[in-house]
Amino acid sequence: MTSPKITVNGERLWQSLMDLAEIGAYDDERTGLRGVNRLALTDADAAGRRQVIAWMEEAGLAVRIDRMGNIYGRREGTDPTAAPVLTGSHIDSVATAGAFDGCLGVLGGIEVIRTLNERGIRTRRPVEVGIFTEEEGVRFGTDMLGSAVAAGRLTVEYAHALTDRDGRTLGGELARTGFDGPGCPTDVCLAPPYAYVECHIEQGPVLAENGVEIGVVTGVQGISWQEITIHGRAAHAGTTPTHLRADAGLAAAQIAVHLRALVDSGEYGELRATVGHLVVHPDLTNIVPARAELTVDLRNPDDTQMARAEKALATFLHDLEGSQPGLSLTTRRMARTAYVPFDEGVRKTIAQAADDHGLEHISLLSGAGHDAQEIAALCPTAMIFVRGEYDGISHNPREYSTPEACAHGVDVLATTLLRLADQ
Ligand code: GLV
Ligand code: MN
Ligand code: MN
Ligand code: MN
Repeated sequence: MTSPKITVNGERLWQSLMDLAEIGAYDDERTGLRGVNRLALTDADAAGRRQVIAWMEEAGLAVRIDRMGNIYGRREGTDPTAAPVLTGSHIDSVATAGAFDGCLGVLGGIEVIRTLNERGIRTRRPVEVGIFTEEEGVRFGTDMLGSAVAAGRLTVEYAHALTDRDGRTLGGELARTGFDGPGCPTDVCLAPPYAYVECHIEQGPVLAENGVEIGVVTGVQGISWQEITIHGRAAHAGTTPTHLRADAGLAAAQIAVHLRALVDSGEYGELRATVGHLVVHPDLTNIVPARAELTVDLRNPDDTQMARAEKALATFLHDLEGSQPGLSLTTRRMARTAYVPFDEGVRKTIAQAADDHGLEHISLLSGAGHDAQEIAALCPTAMIFVRGEYDGISHNPREYSTPEACAHGVDVLATTLLRLADQ
């Protein structure tokens, strides 16, 4: 028999979201809004983690922390041998974030636990809420890092050795902030769950454009990140003839323009390309740049088209080296994941839950990366998307989903988790 639907306390959920957003809050000069800056394993992230652990413990969850600083809170079921149903997301943020990215999934999971407790509902399977470390990848350079280690795609040793721009290692920052587990016999503290469901804001305009509340996510598109360092030669801006320059800044600009041309050509499917980080050295008005560092972020739902785009970029970089005497460049792979499809059975359970709550839903692909794409390697997985305002803008303090939209998403999460946990 299918378990009945359950409805969470939307006001309590909203209060938790707003309380967590105070940790790492800053006044954003560009928008005039209050934003969130909780880069992974900074003091602000550590304070956020301590707050969320306190809420987990208040809700009766048994908390364990693995060697990546991933945090799991567990509510036992009636069958001690049954694999748990896992939910969760991340609370680390980009430097210019809003209150919702990742936090909705974590605090939504805790709100589901509070609701189960309040109603005295015992599930057959345990229910666990996970918080994954460095989902954003903007501090240590590899995204979905904690969940990728939890799922066995990357090793703990690889992750611990990654450094931020100031040369601090992830392993050192875990130790400094006190989040270096293990609080359990294994490095990753995670046996394969029965299923994983993540609730997240959409971070795009599709749900609003379609006038629906809920997205049932079909999968996550591929992500390719690399860092390019261009080596030129510092020279006097006024005296150095153009043909004698090795201008790293010019080459960096050419890469950005070429990426846009690849996208606009339409020859690489639904390719998206971003140069989000670009610095030149020595960064002075009257010096031809000696060095440039930039990052390239490519996204594509089609793995073949992604590989073609990567190859086209590599060819361009090769030709670019020969375009100015003395110019050379090196590339470093930061992160690479293929398209990940989500489980049909979990998607159906989500869609049924949305129907039972009277919420209109559509299926859509995720443009952003999520921890679910990693946990999908361990167990049947899918995601619930919640509608955002202002074209679903995200990675921006303007990011906003209404209290009602958040509550509706977490209602669907609650009913989905309850049904899976009773299977
Ligand atoms: C994570 O937010 C990503 O999709 O870059
Ligand atoms: Mn996120
Ligand atoms: Mn994000
Ligand atoms: Mn993300």
